[in-house]
Amino acid sequence: MTTSTTAWEALAAQRSTVPVLAPGHVWLAGAGPGDPGLLTLDALAGLRQADVIVHDALVDPRVLALAGSQARLEFAGKRGGKPSATQAGITARLVMLARRGARVLRLKGGDPFIFGRGGEEAMALAAAQIPFRIIPGITSGLAALAAAAIPATLRGVNRALIFAAGHGADDDFDWVPLARAGLPIVFYMVMHQLERITKVLLQAGLDAQTPAAIIASATTPNERVLVAPLEKLAAAAREQSFEPPAIVVIGDIVDFRPRLLGEVATAEKE
Ligand SMILES: C[S@@+](CC[C@H](N)C(=O)[O-])C[C@H]1O[C@@H](n2cnc3c(N)ncnc32)[C@H](O)[C@@H]1O
Repeated sequence: MTTSTTAWEALAAQRSTVPVLAPGHVWLAGAGPGDPGLLTLDALAGLRQADVIVHDALVDPRVLALAGSQARLEFAGKRGGKPSATQAGITARLVMLARRGARVLRLKGGDPFIFGRGGEEAMALAAAQIPFRIIPGITSGLAALAAAAIPATLRGVNRALIFAAGHGADDDFDWVPLARAGLPIVFYMVMHQLERITKVLLQAGLDAQTPAAIIASATTPNERVLVAPLEKLAAAAREQSFEPPAIVVIGDIVDFRPRLLGEVATAEKE
C-alpha cells in the first residue's frame, strides 16, 4: 500500500472488489464508540454508498460527517426527552426504504449485536425477506477499557469477562451469580442504576475495595475517567457529575491502569 492509496482502495485490493451496497439492500453496521478512526472499512464503505443512513443517538457526528453527499441522514433514537422511535417503527422504516430500492445503512453505536437491538432488526429484515448484511463494530465496552488503559483480560488475572446491561426489560435480574463469579464485570447502561447495582453487588459478597472505574464518552473529545473502590463509586460519580454514555468496569483489571499509564509514559520518553 503506497501512502497515496486510500484505505478503501487497499481493502478492495485484498478482496478483489469493493464491497457494494446494492439498491434494496440494508447493511446493519456498527459505528464503533465515537472516534472515526475506530470505524471498520466496511462501515466506511456503507457510509460512502448509502442513499439513506438510519442512525442512533450514540453515533458520533464525526462518523456521520463521512457520509456521501447523496446520503440522507435519518435519526432513529432518543433525543431531548422526546418520545423515541419505537423498535417496530424503525424496522418498518428499514423494510419500506429497502422495498423502495434505497441503499440503506442502519448505523448503530458500538457493535450492532451488543445491547443494541441489532438482533431484533436483523430478524425483522430476514422475516421481510430484505437482503441484509451485518457489519460488526468495536463495542464501547472494549473501546472504553482500552481508552482508559485497563486491560480487558490479563494472563494470570482473569480468563473471562462479563458484559452486562445495567438497564433492561428484566429489571428483577439476579446479579448475585455475577457478583460471585469472581470475574471482571463491564456494565453498559448502568449510570441511572449505579447506586442500586453497586449495593446489590456488595451485598452479594463483592469486596468493598474491589477496584472500579467509569469511562464516560469514551474515545470522544468529552472522555472522562473516574477510578474508585466499589463502595465509593456511586457517590464519586454523583459528586463529579458523571453522565451517560458511560461504561463501568468492576474488577482487579482496573488496578493495572496506573502501571499501563506509567509504562506508556516511559516508552514515550525513550
Ligand atoms: C444501547 S447501549 C449500545 C451499546 C453499543 N451497541 C456498543 O456495542 O457499544 C448504550 C450504552 O453503550 C455505552 N456506550 C456507548 N458509547 C459509549 C461511549 N462512547 N463511551 C462510554 N460508553 C458508551 C453506554 O453504557 C451506553 O449507555
